[in-house]
Amino acid sequence: MKNLTIIDHPLIKRDVAILRDAATTNHLFRTTLRRISSVMAFTVTHDLRLRKTRVKTPLERTTGYRLADDIVIVPVLRAGLGLIDGFLDVLPEARVGHVGLYRNEKTLEPVDYYAKFPQGLRKSLVLLLDPMLATGGSATAAITFLKRRGAKRIRFVALVAAPEGVKRLAAAHPDVPIYSAVLDRELNKSGYILPGLGDAGDRMFGTE
Ligand code: PRP
Ligand code: URA
Repeated sequence: MKNLTIIDHPLIKRDVAILRDAATTNHLFRTTLRRISSVMAFTVTHDLRLRKTRVKTPLERTTGYRLADDIVIVPVLRAGLGLIDGFLDVLPEARVGHVGLYRNEKTLEPVDYYAKFPQGLRKSLVLLLDPMLATGGSATAAITFLKRRGAKRIRFVALVAAPEGVKRLAAAHPDVPIYSAVLDRELNKSGYILPGLGDAGDRMFGTE
């Protein structure tokens, strides 16, 4: 699992427990997703390039910094929407694309229904967000979309990853680093992550 970074932080461990808890309401699930994604964004962006600027304080001029990397955040619909505000809180300059995929319940293979990306992906750092990496089919397909549109630097951010999904994604796109809050045990026969947190989209939006 050399492509995988588990982001180890007490605040993340606390929030993963809230998200796993079947008693957590839809509202608490959404607010927790926003907070945990903001904490994760610190590690995912730890090596961003900077450009020096000059800043005038009330007292004198000094050196300041701006991000030199053009950042594009891409949530995988639907559940990736839950991570977007936490990332935008700390990356307000980012542009946002969307990719819509859902898993066919029988084959577990992804079905695509939407894709819209900002111009100039070739030069951007793309942060692809989806809380669940299960079989890896959706993440693999989303990255293939992004590469067809020219993206060269992509990072995939999940909350809960299954070993099966990490292996599939790393085999299909070995150039894409994977960040996750936890690596869970396995998938069940229906393709759900164990222990997992259930269906992330349904828990966010109160659907079933
Ligand atoms: C979930 C999740 C991922 C996908 C992961 O979406 O948000 O996109 O499953 O599974 P995989 O790794 O096996 O592809 P889902 O298909 O439930 O769609 P939804 O978010 O629209 O409900
Ligand atoms: N998608 C989810 O939302 N949860 C899982 O456990 C697997 C795929």
